[in-house]
Amino acid sequence: MKNAYIFPAGFLWGSASSSYQIEGAAYEGGKSESIWDRFAHTPGNIDDGSTGDVACDFYHRYEEDIALMKRLGLRVYRMSVSWPRILPKGTGEVNREGVTFYRKVLQCLRANSIKTCVTIYHWDLPQALQNRGGWANREIIQWFEDYAKVLYAELGDLVDIWITVNEPIITAMNGHWLKEHAPGYRDFSCALQAAHHVLMAHGAAVRAYRETGLKAEIGCSLNLQMEYPADPDDKRDIEAAKLMTAHQNAFYLDAIYRKRYPAEYLAALESRGVILPEILEGDMELIGQKIDFLGINSYFTEYIKYDAARWPVFASAVKTGRATTALGWELCPDGFYNLLEWVQKNYAPQKLLITENGMACNDWVKQNGKVEDSNRREYLERHLAEVSRAIEAGINIAGYLHWCFTDNFEWARGYTARFGLVYVDFKTQKRTIKESAYWLADVIKNGGFN
Ligand code: FCB
Repeated sequence: MKNAYIFPAGFLWGSASSSYQIEGAAYEGGKSESIWDRFAHTPGNIDDGSTGDVACDFYHRYEEDIALMKRLGLRVYRMSVSWPRILPKGTGEVNREGVTFYRKVLQCLRANSIKTCVTIYHWDLPQALQNRGGWANREIIQWFEDYAKVLYAELGDLVDIWITVNEPIITAMNGHWLKEHAPGYRDFSCALQAAHHVLMAHGAAVRAYRETGLKAEIGCSLNLQMEYPADPDDKRDIEAAKLMTAHQNAFYLDAIYRKRYPAEYLAALESRGVILPEILEGDMELIGQKIDFLGINSYFTEYIKYDAARWPVFASAVKTGRATTALGWELCPDGFYNLLEWVQKNYAPQKLLITENGMACNDWVKQNGKVEDSNRREYLERHLAEVSRAIEAGINIAGYLHWCFTDNFEWARGYTARFGLVYVDFKTQKRTIKESAYWLADVIKNGGFN
């Protein structure tokens, strides 16, 4: 029988993760403290008072997890490298134990015919560098480039896809403005400056990569979302949604694809008292290095109301009554499709890779030993249908990486949100493949679904 939703033969089916969320071994193997170790250990920052000290213990259990990936037929695995595990001081001396660990993981993936996708930075900055100003300090561009070069030299022969940075906006805004992520600041101007530095670090890493002669592809992962006016007839909502689009998407995309920041957005911020980032000659050129693909992380579609209380963008998202995930995130698969179309139309990336998409569910292991997560399965069906539709419409989407492989430490939400295809009992570290994952395995095998 022919499938209703089909995917190209070489489609990259996979799953994604990040070091701090899964590795554990926080104080082992020569690793030094990261800003997330510090942040999670500071009382009041994490909902359930937990930390990533142990997480999924991937550091010791990666072989078991990779065997499960293989069993499900995944073709690619996205993981990140912990900067303080490689360079405990942030710069300088390389921790050989750290290199050995990642080489073993990558070799194990390759031995199981799973392509390797490595994110250079997924938020766990060495605390040593935070002590020197972290992302607010322009020197970080050099620190990051040097770190990236160490990874190219030490792991380059084992990596199929490189991702420089994950979600620059979250590093910048959640970390330096919303106080929700490490390092936990509340200064919008500083956040915007940090965003500029993250983008420059990305560009510097791409430029350095091209000089290595390595042939794998390199790109970055942005979390993008459609921002619609809550009331399409209300001028102020329309204006607010436009600014949110710039804040969330265009600031990053324009920089990478057009070598400039959206002028109206900067003007609006400046008129509201924000100190604009210091941009020196050559900065935008550096950010606009050619990338091989754009990684898209997608979780939301937002409906925006003008909100005078929300300085400086004056916008807040309102609920629309749609069904939500266990974290209260509204489900909107058609918004996902519209986003892919919007990105394609406005920036025409030569290739897209869905580097994250997924939902938190209140999963549990039933007496029959199964995790019957029909809501995640439905989520997968509806989102994959949109991916398939986008491919049919001519958008070049190379793969879909579900967030996440195993349940893990969900940042400020701690262990209260389960995103995995595989359930983890955090007391025993026992893994149970969820029913949604078996469904996905069938889709992979059949190249589509009905
Ligand atoms: C993304 C992050 C990822 C995970 C998911 C749920 O923003 O990149 O680490 O926390 O959200």
